[in-house]
Amino acid sequence: MAMQSPPSSNAAPVRRAVIFLGPPGSGKGTQSKELVKVLRVPHLSTGDMFRENIARRTPLGLAAKPLLERGELVPDDITLGMVEQRIAQPDAANGFVFDGFPRTLNQAERLNELLERRGFGKPAVLHIVVPEGLLLRRLTGRRVCSIGGEIYHIDEHPPKVPGRCDVDGGELIHRPDDREEVIRERLAEYERKTRPLAEYYRRQGALVDVDGARPLADVTRALLAALEQKPS
Ligand code: AP5
Repeated sequence: MAMQSPPSSNAAPVRRAVIFLGPPGSGKGTQSKELVKVLRVPHLSTGDMFRENIARRTPLGLAAKPLLERGELVPDDITLGMVEQRIAQPDAANGFVFDGFPRTLNQAERLNELLERRGFGKPAVLHIVVPEGLLLRRLTGRRVCSIGGEIYHIDEHPPKVPGRCDVDGGELIHRPDDREEVIRERLAEYERKTRPLAEYYRRQGALVDVDGARPLADVTRALLAALEQKPS
């Protein structure tokens, strides 16, 4: 099924921190890319930051590489240092959309302190809920543009020309951690370390559940409606 065009919105830029919470394959990356077009703030994916560091063979990338290959989380001190530097950049002054961060209770607590220090209110946490059975199918069928990072699915959101990105013609690749045995470990890490964050943010009144099992554009609409319902 081809993706419908994203819903339009005249929403003015708002100073806020938005967090996408959800298991691997729930659509965090896909939906973050749509939301930042409306909110006009940067999309901060910690997974993308690690992959960029791995590609550039930086010391941080060398430390993270074996962990990503096994589907395990990168230690909190490395992740938090990278995030703190990123949100201090001028383009993040009015807010940002986090995709894949925080992922542990310690990361969430440290993020709350960081946000408070930088004068942000409570984050808006969008929790994408997808039945586990769908996640494996979504991840094994995912293809990502090697140039711009555009996300496709071989059945659900295929490119016009097989293997090539519609936006920049880049080669579409299968992420090395999208092999079934690594996906299973990523899902287990999510259950062990990240799922408890849903309760943590729910208790703070910061979380909205959104059904992520619907078609892409319907999920985008639901997320935008959830943000309007929960201004930070
Ligand atoms: P990361 O890159 O964050 O991966 P992830 O959380 O496992 O999430 P994914 O990118 O796999 O899935 P997604 O939810 O973005 O789904 P997508 O939109 O692509 O992290 C990778 C690694 O980095 C981690 O394992 C860890 O090692 C490390 N790391 C990152 N952050 C860290 C942190 N904070 N702390 C420690 N370590 C960290 O969609 C998936 C597929 O489904 C696509 O093909 C898409 O087209 C399709 N799809 C999406 N929505 C729909 C829909 N509604 N209908 C049909 N198809 C859909």
